[in-house]
Amino acid sequence: MSKALGTALVGGGTGFIGSHLCNALKSQGYGVTVISRMPGPQRMTWNDLNRVGLPEGTTAVINLAGQNVLDMKQRWNAGFKQNVFNSRVNTTSSLAKAISNAQNKPSVFVSISGVGIYKADKVREYDEASVEPEFDFFSRLCHEWEKAAKLPKGPTRQVTIRSGVVLGRNGGMIKQLYLPFFCGLGGPVMPGDQYLPWIHIEDLTGLILFALKNDKVEGTLNGVAPQNVTNKEFSDAFAKALRRPAFFPVPKFVLNVLLSEERANMLTEGQKVLPKRTMSLGFQYKYPDIASACQQVVTKE
Ligand SMILES: NC(=O)c1ccc[n+]([C@@H]2O[C@H](COP(=O)([O-])OP(=O)(O)OC[C@H]3O[C@@H](n4cnc5c(N)ncnc54)[C@H](OP(=O)(O)O)[C@@H]3O)[C@@H](O)[C@H]2O)c1
Repeated sequence: MSKALGTALVGGGTGFIGSHLCNALKSQGYGVTVISRMPGPQRMTWNDLNRVGLPEGTTAVINLAGQNVLDMKQRWNAGFKQNVFNSRVNTTSSLAKAISNAQNKPSVFVSISGVGIYKADKVREYDEASVEPEFDFFSRLCHEWEKAAKLPKGPTRQVTIRSGVVLGRNGGMIKQLYLPFFCGLGGPVMPGDQYLPWIHIEDLTGLILFALKNDKVEGTLNGVAPQNVTNKEFSDAFAKALRRPAFFPVPKFVLNVLLSEERANMLTEGQKVLPKRTMSLGFQYKYPDIASACQQVVTKE
């Protein structure tokens, strides 16, 4: 563990975003402890956290835990929705509670939320100041998730990142799309003109590090790239990066059948989200446009 930076405690640090973040934290000199449902070296479980609180020397806490919503093997029923909800809200409130109870408090708590807090619309533009009352399951989830992360006034800065779809080779949406697009069988989700708020994985982890390191960063940030694209524009860019066509649109009714309509709406509808505060605080994107992000994603490392 670096004496200067201390330990970063990462809920969901075994996942797609979490493992990427843990590598970035280690390369910056942080010690890293992951909270996982599975015990292991350099890990603690959620039960350990509830029992003993934050590990000694924790200077930063980040929560990236959450049951995969788009897991096709899981039926969209009340039980699964409860898992989706609890895996985000309960883990976040456990961390907030552990921070409140800690004698030596960390300097920063970053937790993730989603752009599902904004209602899908083809015209409206949302920035971090946009206030939207709850309107469906996902918006209620985001509201409760963000509420769970709130801390009483104290020395710990609290930052919420409302992330768009995260683009990276080894997880999330790209993992599902890579094979069909690689085989030339890719195409947009219909109708195609719905917005797809997105961010490259390196920019999301970069934004989390930016929030850890900058004392002036507090409150809500939109974790999306500055270039807004539609689903069709994303599909075209991804297919182009792979040098394949994007001829095969995915009809809305197919996703409604496969995922059920409430969940399929995450793909068949979209929001135009601007990272206004993120940019005004001085965050610099490595991949601000979809072409460069898709190019990086298809490049073998
Ligand atoms: N990927 C995206 O495009 C995207 C976009 C917006 C927001 N987000 C949010 O960012 C977070 C991380 O996303 P990701 O793509 O990295 O997801 P991921 O790869 O599925 O990883 C999520 C992590 O959450 C933990 N987890 C899963 N089910 C859980 C449960 N029932 N209870 C407690 N922990 C559980 C798992 O850790 P263990 O198995 O080790 O316990 C896993 O490592 C999620 O909350 C997600 O909603 C993701």
